[in-house]
Parts: sequence; C-alpha cells; structure tokens
Amino acid sequence: MIPHELRTERMLLRQWREGDAEALEEIYRHPEFLEHMPYRDPYEQIGRFAREWREDGLSHWAAVDPESGRLIGRIGLLRHHDWPESPSPVEVGWALHRDCWGRGLATEGGRAGLECWRAHLDDPQLISITTPANRRSRAVMERLGLTLRGETHWHEHDVIWYALDR
Ligand SMILES: CC(C)(COP(=O)(O)OP(=O)(O)OC[C@H]1O[C@@H](n2cnc3c(N)ncnc32)[C@H](O)[C@@H]1OP(=O)(O)O)[C@@H](O)C(=O)NCCC(=O)NCCS
Repeated sequence: MIPHELRTERMLLRQWREGDAEALEEIYRHPEFLEHMPYRDPYEQIGRFAREWREDGLSHWAAVDPESGRLIGRIGLLRHHDWPESPSPVEVGWALHRDCWGRGLATEGGRAGLECWRAHLDDPQLISITTPANRRSRAVMERLGLTLRGETHWHEHDVIWYALDR
C-alpha cells in the first residue's frame, strides 16, 4: 500500500483537506504556472485526489512545508486509465508554487513517489508525462533517471513521455 502520509527531508506529503483549496488556487493562478498548465478548479481537483486515493490506492499528496504548514504544491503518483500508449500505467508528477521553484523540491518529492512505486507496486514501468516545452518538468524527470520514450496526443495536447523500467 502506498503510504497516505510521509516525510521527505524538507516536506510533509499528506492527504488533502478541504481547507487546502484556497492555497491550491493561488498556486494554479500564478501566470508562470499557467504558461505550462491549464487552470483547474482546486475544489474539483481535491475531490479527484480523494477519490483516486480511495479507488486506485494512490494519487497526489498535498506537499506541505512542515515548519509553517503552508501548502506548497502537489506531488505523487497517478494511475492513468485512459493513457493511449499502454494499459493504466502509473505516472509520477509534480506541481509547485512559483515561489518554491529552483530548490530541488520537485525532485525530492518525485523521488519519494518513485521509491513508493518501487517498494509498493508491481507495475514494471513508471512513466511521467509533460509537454515538449516544459523544460523544468523534463529536467526533474531526467534528474530522477527517467528517459524519453515517445510522444503522443492526450487530453487534447501533444505530449511527450519519459519512463523508468523496474
Ligand atoms: C515542474 C516544476 C515542479 C519544476 O520545479 P523546479 O523547481 O524546476 O524543479 P526542482 O524542484 O527539481 O528544482 C530544480 C532546480 O533547483 C536547483 N536545486 C537547488 N537545490 C537542489 C537540490 N537539492 N536538488 C535538486 N535541484 C536543486 C536545481 O539546480 C534546479 O535549478 P535550475 O532550474 O536553475 O536548473 C515547476 O516548474 C512547476 O511547478 N511548474 C508548473 C507545473 C508543471 O508544469 N508541472 C509539471 C506538469 S508535467
């Protein structure tokens, strides 16, 4: 079972609370964030994460600064039941408040997700998906040892995908 909560060196990765929506909205509304990601309703997203934790046994954690309790992003694993390239793979992913870029936090949280995949899941492959222009996200994938595997069209976007094999 994927732990519902865990500590990394600099973050608490925990389950979502209703009170997280405002802080998640602030993350999603930042203009530089929106250069790479479409705006999503934070209430819907928090509901989706809770449902996935129940149904798939995994989803993104709320990434929190343990000292202040501030929500700084979302990081974790998603099982994509509609991925065109392979049946229901697990993806590691991340999104951080703009203030928190450039400190290695996505890599640190992504590594926690990767270690959970290794320790708790049977899936032979871990993937990660982004758009070709998302240089920062691609760099996180590369730091974690994933390699570029291909491109495809998914959810109305041209995307590229990286993977790590067990
Ligand atoms: C994608 C995203 C999470 C990447 O954030 P990031 O801060 O660039 O990634 P990391 O947290 O791994 O930090 C790496 C940077 O911190 C630096 N760094 C500092 N300390 C570090 C450490 N201990 N370990 C690794 N890197 C460290 C690295 O040198 C690198 O700096 P650079 O960008 O100047 O090269 C962020 O850009 C984001 O939230 N974007 C919007 C949402 C998004 O696109 N999500 C992905 C969708 S596919």
